[in-house]
Amino acid sequence: MFPDARGKFERASCLPCTLQGNSDDDMPLQKFRYVDHLLPFYLKEEQSLIVIERSQMDNSNQSKTANQASTSVEPTPLSWGKSYLMCPPDYFGVFYEINPWMHRENRPDFELAIEQWHNLVANLRRAGAKVEMIEPVKELPDMVYVANAGLVDGQRLILSRFRHAERQPESIYTSQWFQARGREVAELVGEDDISFEGCGDAFPFRGSLLAGYGFRSDLSSHAVLSRLLGVTVHSVKLIDPRFYHFDISFSPLDNRHAIINPAAWDRASNAIIEQLVPEPLVLELDEALTFCANSVVVDKVIVMPACPPRVGRILERWGYDVCVSPVSEFLKAGGAVRCLTLPLDMTISNPAMNYKEGEPKLLHESENVQLDL
Ligand code: ARG
Repeated sequence: MFPDARGKFERASCLPCTLQGNSDDDMPLQKFRYVDHLLPFYLKEEQSLIVIERSQMDNSNQSKTANQASTSVEPTPLSWGKSYLMCPPDYFGVFYEINPWMHRENRPDFELAIEQWHNLVANLRRAGAKVEMIEPVKELPDMVYVANAGLVDGQRLILSRFRHAERQPESIYTSQWFQARGREVAELVGEDDISFEGCGDAFPFRGSLLAGYGFRSDLSSHAVLSRLLGVTVHSVKLIDPRFYHFDISFSPLDNRHAIINPAAWDRASNAIIEQLVPEPLVLELDEALTFCANSVVVDKVIVMPACPPRVGRILERWGYDVCVSPVSEFLKAGGAVRCLTLPLDMTISNPAMNYKEGEPKLLHESENVQLDL
């Protein structure tokens, strides 16, 4: 339960979003442009919905949550997040459109992109992270978004299966990089056309895996992941195409805190997250549209593409140092700080749970959620 943020959370989760979608492939690609601080466009057509204007929002609720965090249970830092793979943006650009943020005519400024990317590397290193590089490949402009390359589990990489043909060739190079460093590369076996877009759609949290589906990754990939990793997978249905990857709506900070954007998920998924995350930082839609949930935590430093003032205040109260590392040029292709990094130090599998092969643990229903603490 969210003792204090609950009211806001419920409101957000029942927002009648104009863009509610589903996982159907034939859903028309909606177009958006990134602008700083887009205003929320809540529909007011649902009569029963009480729309609380931003100015009346009870920030003190969120503050209380924050205070409780500091006075009650001391959070444990994430066990991962100190080592990243990145890919230099030598061939970066917007040459095709596979998410609502991409418009070929809205070209990134190449020089600025290079500068922002190097600045991000420097900020991550300054925060204490190790950063390794994979060589960029010509004609693979999205290879910079290396979070989608796969999911690291100890010495093993679970290789992604990209939904879009434009990104599929990236996997060959990812696979080579990991194999050359002595890591095992596991492929998803199952249905032929199953897609799974790596860390962009999955995070370990409190002993299980939280995984998004609906736009890029298929729900059926979760059973395969659960079998491969031997952990419970909590499936989160993404319903807003602007937040087409899970990592744009969910950012784990430590074992108690996460930045979350409830408007990106369906109601059942909201209930799951509500039970799993003891103290969430619940974003308003306009805050989420800055991509601030697409952030990376290195110990107590949070490296963010943008930090709306309220979000910054809460993070600071929770003891985080905020480092804003602008990535405006990469937002033009629909990705920010988290998308540009792949954590190399994650261990997800839990041999102690000892699942039998063929018995995936999947939870879609909130009542089934059990916390593995
Ligand atoms: N243009 C890339 C794509 O559409 C952006 C990927 C963003 N990555 C992420 N982890 N959210 O695939």
